[in-house]
Amino acid sequence: MKQNMHILVTGGAGYIGSHTVVELINSGKIPVIVDDFRNSDPRIIKGVEEIVQQKVIFKKVDVCDLNAMRKVFEEYSFDGIIHFAAYKAVGESVQEPLMYYNNNLNSLLVCLMLAKEFEVKNFLFSSSCTVYGEPESSPVVTEESPVLEANSPYGATKQMCERILADTTKSGTNIKVLNLRYFNPIGAHHSGFIGELPIGRPNNLLPYLTQTGAGILEELTVFGSDYNTDDGTCVRDYIHVSDLADAHVKGVDWLMKQEGVFNEVVNIGTGHGASVLEIIHTFEKVANLKLNWKFGERRAGDVEKIYADASKAKSLLNWTANRTMEDAIRDAWNWEQKWRNETTDNH
Ligand code: UD1
Repeated sequence: MKQNMHILVTGGAGYIGSHTVVELINSGKIPVIVDDFRNSDPRIIKGVEEIVQQKVIFKKVDVCDLNAMRKVFEEYSFDGIIHFAAYKAVGESVQEPLMYYNNNLNSLLVCLMLAKEFEVKNFLFSSSCTVYGEPESSPVVTEESPVLEANSPYGATKQMCERILADTTKSGTNIKVLNLRYFNPIGAHHSGFIGELPIGRPNNLLPYLTQTGAGILEELTVFGSDYNTDDGTCVRDYIHVSDLADAHVKGVDWLMKQEGVFNEVVNIGTGHGASVLEIIHTFEKVANLKLNWKFGERRAGDVEKIYADASKAKSLLNWTANRTMEDAIRDAWNWEQKWRNETTDNH
């Protein structure tokens, strides 16, 4: 395989993007990050550089800006593209559907048009288990499970992007596509230099929980106590973000080795479900504190129970999750404390 491959990473300053950049560098590849910090922070780039002990290539560009992106493609000869840049808040997407369709579809179209123009053959897309909607019979979903109607504009953008990619591969281009459907990424790099950085009040469970633990938020509300699960709270497949980052490296390596043109789909999860209460109890054990939480109403649009059949990731990409839920929660808590301390020191 060619040495020093250049990989375009759109949204590379984001949560999953930044962890992937670290693992790409660890595997000898050269990521070129494109991000405009609309939902990330320049200090994350510094954190990545701290971990890998080298400068990273970074372009502050809006991925929807075709001309600006063309300049990036003119400057580097890319061997592959990992496309993360997108909005990702389910609730916000219901309030601002046009913003979601505009950004999530256009950023993909720009990347694909340029991939075609500059003959970049390997394309990895950041998709989501949200494409499965509410599983009908079993909570375990395989890649063959039906893609049901999305319950949010955010979910619809992921389905539409997958469709656009599938149509592109059928149209006679040379682009090989791998869609990774992630379950629930949590945690942070074990060094504590990078992690999830929600802007404003977090929507997702883990940042809400760690911010409550740190005393920034008063109380965590558990959305619903009467679901048809062992303890009445929703079940998800929580995966350590560094395991997810590893899956991207494996995915890129796999793409490079394949011949022909195809559109492949792979679930990335641990294969195990955990409830909201299990997460809270693990956090209390790891952080050695009592969390302030209460039961509240169900959140609209929440799926009761979903986790991955992750066997295809193992057979196709030779990837499995190595880190435990406890590792992920410990790393998230470490990150929360480190980030707060540094932010307080800086101001
Ligand atoms: C959703 C999407 C997922 C997307 C992710 C990113 C679905 C099925 N999943 O994940 O595709 O990538 O958002 O934003 O649409 N919870 C609480 N209290 C809180 C916050 C969350 O109890 O304050 C519970 C939720 O009810 C849920 C679990 O924690 O059961 C996880 O929620 P969250 O972290 O928001 O992720 P999902 O909704 O599973």
